[in-house]
Amino acid sequence: MHSLLSSWDMRNKRVLIRADLNVPLHDGIILDDFRLRETMPTIEYVTRAGGKPIIITHLGQPKGTDFAYSTRHLIAWFEHQGHKVHWAPTIQDAYNASQTLDTTLVLLENLRFFPGEKSKDTAFARELSSLGDYFMQDAFGTLHRDDSSISLVPHFFAPHMRTIGLCVQRELEHLEPLNSNPARPYMVIIGGSKVSDKLKLIEAFAHKADTLVLCPALIFTFMKAQGKKVGISLVDDVLIDTCRMLMEQQQKNHAHYFEPIDFLVGMHGPEGALEVRTANDLRETDFGIAFGPQSTAKLSQLIAQAGSVLFNGAMGFATRPETRASTFAILDAMAVSPAYTCVAGGDAVAAVHTCKLADRLSYLSTGGGATLTYLAGMPLAGLHALQSDS
Ligand code: 3PG
Repeated sequence: MHSLLSSWDMRNKRVLIRADLNVPLHDGIILDDFRLRETMPTIEYVTRAGGKPIIITHLGQPKGTDFAYSTRHLIAWFEHQGHKVHWAPTIQDAYNASQTLDTTLVLLENLRFFPGEKSKDTAFARELSSLGDYFMQDAFGTLHRDDSSISLVPHFFAPHMRTIGLCVQRELEHLEPLNSNPARPYMVIIGGSKVSDKLKLIEAFAHKADTLVLCPALIFTFMKAQGKKVGISLVDDVLIDTCRMLMEQQQKNHAHYFEPIDFLVGMHGPEGALEVRTANDLRETDFGIAFGPQSTAKLSQLIAQAGSVLFNGAMGFATRPETRASTFAILDAMAVSPAYTCVAGGDAVAAVHTCKLADRLSYLSTGGGATLTYLAGMPLAGLHALQSDS
């Protein structure tokens, strides 16, 4: 179990906040600060209540210590918001800084630089927990990861000393219209490249959604499983048989997959000259990048008639804007649809910001994989840990 935030007396207390400040960076520059902005209400709530925020987060998927992924790159952003930051390279340093009673926030170095974060090391989790009197789980985007700061740290706090933060609260409220009883027809549009990451989700959404749209590159493994030609598009060959069995079984249950009409392809690879091909005419040297104009128009029509739409499928490359047309068109269609519309995941949300459509969609979720896991009805490790009795 966990407690209610409003029941906490945070005056002169250290509040350990597990945030998800995993923002896209390039040469140390923050490309999209959405997740930082969405975490600010929690930090400000704590400081207003007289508490001292100790922030822990991961950043990217570094292999060991790598300055490109250091949380040092976030300091200037917080300072720009008027917060004094003590940046701590080690847990000991964060601990020392946590003992001072001013409202300087403490920001620990990237959790993934510490081997104990991924190896689920209890001693590491105990050490992290020494940084707070209270624990606030606010990393919605990471709740599906079975990492130390997500699954283990909560157990070091008594149930009345741990809870969810404002970002997680907001996510659960705004995802509710898609969770228990989504307005029909319910359309789920999923992208990404790794079929292995998404297979369980696809299986679950095929039952829940009225139309399930698999975007490039995910779709090519499924097309190959049906014996279709996919050229040199990304395919997870190991999973072809699994995908075939899944589709056969789901066809019996009348799952409804969107059938693409055409694709935008790069000739000879992702960097190649662009062409539009009909879906059954992909050539041997074609690399599928995004949906073509006819598929996109059909999808836009379906979106206009939907009751709710979940989109986690930014297609194309941010570095090649001409490959983004179908992503932008889908977002445009969502913006004018009367449906409850939710965009989830870093890439897709960044595309929303590029098109300046944030105000015209029902909700932007900070989670990608976490949002899909939650809406697919699968357990989130982070919520489970908070709700357990120990
Ligand atoms: C995300 O970006 O989806 C979350 O921050 C989790 O990051 P991860 O996929 O690297 O675990």
